[in-house]
Amino acid sequence: MPGLGSTSLRSKHVRLIAVAYFVSAAGCSTGTPNSGGSAGESGVGGAPGGGAAAASGSADASGPSDSVAQKYAGDFPIGAAIGGWHLDNLSAILERDFNHLTCENAMKTAPIHPAEGTFDWAEADRIADYARAHGMKLTGHTLLWHQQTPAWMFAGVTAGDASSLELLKSRLKTHIEAVMDRYADVVDNWDVVNEAISDDPKKIYRDASEMSKWYELFGSEEYVYWAYRYAHDALEAKSAGSSRGKLYYNEYTVTLKVDKILTMFDWLKNARGIQVHGVGFQSHESLRWPGTSDLQSAFDKFAAAGYQVKISELDVTVYDDYSTGTFVPSPVVVLTPELEATQARRFQSLFDLYRQNKGLITSVTFWGISDDRSWLNNAPVPGRADYPLLYNAAHAPKQARGAIMNF
Ligand code: XIL
Repeated sequence: MPGLGSTSLRSKHVRLIAVAYFVSAAGCSTGTPNSGGSAGESGVGGAPGGGAAAASGSADASGPSDSVAQKYAGDFPIGAAIGGWHLDNLSAILERDFNHLTCENAMKTAPIHPAEGTFDWAEADRIADYARAHGMKLTGHTLLWHQQTPAWMFAGVTAGDASSLELLKSRLKTHIEAVMDRYADVVDNWDVVNEAISDDPKKIYRDASEMSKWYELFGSEEYVYWAYRYAHDALEAKSAGSSRGKLYYNEYTVTLKVDKILTMFDWLKNARGIQVHGVGFQSHESLRWPGTSDLQSAFDKFAAAGYQVKISELDVTVYDDYSTGTFVPSPVVVLTPELEATQARRFQSLFDLYRQNKGLITSVTFWGISDDRSWLNNAPVPGRADYPLLYNAAHAPKQARGAIMNF
């Protein structure tokens, strides 16, 4: 993996991605139901090989037993991150191939809690009701993140000022209690905190230089503790013992951050009395990074320390913007059958690895269903069509889908 796997390169990479989706996230801060993210996410990814495939989401199923979720039923749930758009347009695929859901945006703080004390439950309720009706569970994504957090959360709070910090803590507590209370019956795991670890190898925690208002105002990682404290207590208050197994931490480029994440888990457990139960590997992968042996080592370290693992945001980009050693956006590609086959082999080897770790992995979730609705169409290069999912832009199954069914 020359170049690409190096820590500094990956750090630059993820920073750029972070900037790109931060910008796109700003468009969601009003929390429009059904937005499924920034408006720009639709309409890109002009259907390679699209032809006459159905827009209704019916795809070309070859029978009711041809289901990814059923194929993996003995291993782990197969999830999809969705918005209202997917319920309207891809329900047949959703019901056939998936048995677990994540709200791609609808449960994040800005969309669901747009003004202090004002909640917009519409889209998250719709997804939760769909899950309840279909016997599926949800991932609660996410209770605290440095992105897609509305400005009111931080308004009037000054770093170093104890009383205004109490205001921030009480807002966080209110938010966490409200969201958990509404969805506790249908959420089986919560991304309590998302992306608190630094990309900088010299630092453990993401701070103000990496856009964390939480770190900046608290002046430390202490906010992480409060998020887990409030989440734990909110579930336990509803039903004793009900938080067990459900409190996760979610992160990208986890193979580079394992030790830092374990340091944070140790601190939470030993210094703060909070047991985190598992880690989400976002798994926004490229065709060649990270290698499966690095992933296996990371799984092993979490397993040895007693944590569960989930694959929380899987997609495989066809671009390689770091082949020269610095960020040079790859030119736009067409998804040829050869490129699709290369991607299918990559998905197959990832799923081979996941199955080998099925006792550890609690779910595998794709960050979307079809290529026309992927966040990667706007990150790290806005407007560049990517092809990272199991279905193409015409909603027909890609070779990748066949590959992960082939065992
Ligand atoms: C992304 C959504 O897919 C976009 O629609 C939105 O504009 C920005 O956020 N890591 C995460 C996810 O934890 O919440 C992000 O989702 C992708 C990266």
